[in-house]
Amino acid sequence: MKKIVILISGRGSNMEAIVQACAAGGWPARIAAVISNRPEAAGLQFAKDHGIATSVVDHRQHPDRASFDAALAEAIDGYAPDLVVLAGFMRILTTGFVDRYAGRLLNIHPSLLPCFPGLNTHKQALDAGVKLHGATVHFVTPELDHGPIVIQAALDVLPLDTPESLAVRLLDCEHLIYPRAVRWFVEGRLQVQNGVVHVNPAEPQLLMAISAGVPAAGAKP
Ligand code: GRF
Repeated sequence: MKKIVILISGRGSNMEAIVQACAAGGWPARIAAVISNRPEAAGLQFAKDHGIATSVVDHRQHPDRASFDAALAEAIDGYAPDLVVLAGFMRILTTGFVDRYAGRLLNIHPSLLPCFPGLNTHKQALDAGVKLHGATVHFVTPELDHGPIVIQAALDVLPLDTPESLAVRLLDCEHLIYPRAVRWFVEGRLQVQNGVVHVNPAEPQLLMAISAGVPAAGAKP
């Protein structure tokens, strides 16, 4: 039985999706703990309600990133996890922290990486005028929002989309791809070769949520 620790900073809807998929899907794994850097993170209550251990390592109680990351690692290691899942965890991690969990640290980022790392990804996508946007689950490496890509979800950007509408539509996709990626990991099915992630036996590593763009009234072909 593999042990998973999930790190959150807020709402925790991706964490919820993983908890529910793990419970429903008979994974060879259990969620050992949910840890937040914010005591007020809404997702902590969901975890408690589901009998999952929770803890808080408040970044505001630490003078610098290194001491916060050391305290966070201590809290994580108390659960001896096989996998650490970043699910809306809004802290930049030090190289030392990332190296400690190399090969067993996953993140979800709301863009089709390597496009649009960093914050405000939906605005970045709209400003760039891309017609395809999405989300990426990837192994974490020291470079922010980089690392081998496990699975992506893609959706089309519609003429009236706003950052908010994109975020809403994309979140549904995130809730499909993140549990799938975590399941592959705990089933021991992910292999990374030359920075490319393979699933063995193969399954689609792309989820398409294309609506085939509803054209505006009166639009000509
Ligand atoms: C998600 O959009 C995720 O991609 C990004 O932050 C958001 C977290 O949402 N990293 P939630 O806390 O999982 O609901």
